[in-house]
Amino acid sequence: MSLILIAAVDRRFAIGNRNKLLYNLPEDMKRFRMLTSGHTGILGRETLDSFPGGKPLPNRKNVVISRNYVNQEQLPDLVVVRSVEDALEEAKGDGDVFVLGGQSIYSALAPFCDRALLTRIDAESDDADAFFPNLDETDDWEIEWESESFVSASGLRFRYVDYLHKRK
Ligand SMILES: NC(=O)c1ccc[n+]([C@@H]2O[C@H](COP(=O)([O-])OP(=O)(O)OC[C@H]3O[C@@H](n4cnc5c(N)ncnc54)[C@H](OP(=O)(O)O)[C@@H]3O)[C@@H](O)[C@H]2O)c1
Repeated sequence: MSLILIAAVDRRFAIGNRNKLLYNLPEDMKRFRMLTSGHTGILGRETLDSFPGGKPLPNRKNVVISRNYVNQEQLPDLVVVRSVEDALEEAKGDGDVFVLGGQSIYSALAPFCDRALLTRIDAESDDADAFFPNLDETDDWEIEWESESFVSASGLRFRYVDYLHKRK
């Protein structure tokens, strides 16, 4: 199993506010779908709630971490586990496994991850309440590849940055 963090962060590594994304980046959504479709994703229950209708992402196995949530509709793409350890166990034989957020799950799983695929948005939000770990402030991670910078249809400037976990 290769464990990969994937997130869109701004200049301060902010990722969300009141359980919503901070920025609208259609190009990044498309890339996210392309990279993660057909694979397993691990996510927190709040992030599941933030998806349209609170439904799991289609064409992916969604492993949701929650202490209380019950998969009442028995949706086939949704597996609920009670801990980070159980999520790793559930995903063990699954090839590329993407960590989809939010803040609590990124923080808990970052030490176990091999790589991080970040979309770095050239903006700063004043009212963010959720953050990604700042990979530039630790010696554990190094930049493996960086794209040129693009301007989104929404007007925001962004670039893709892949990080490698050095201590893995
Ligand atoms: N920019 C991006 O790329 C991106 C991607 C994803 C999410 N986000 C943002 O991130 C924010 C959400 O982050 P968040 O930290 O508030 O929520 P979260 O990580 O999505 O979910 C938190 C929930 O996960 C469960 N959980 C967390 N740690 C657990 C553990 N050790 N054991 C068992 N259950 C555990 C709990 O669920 P229960 O309460 O059910 O027990 C907890 O309330 C939102 O603003 C969202 O938009 C941004």
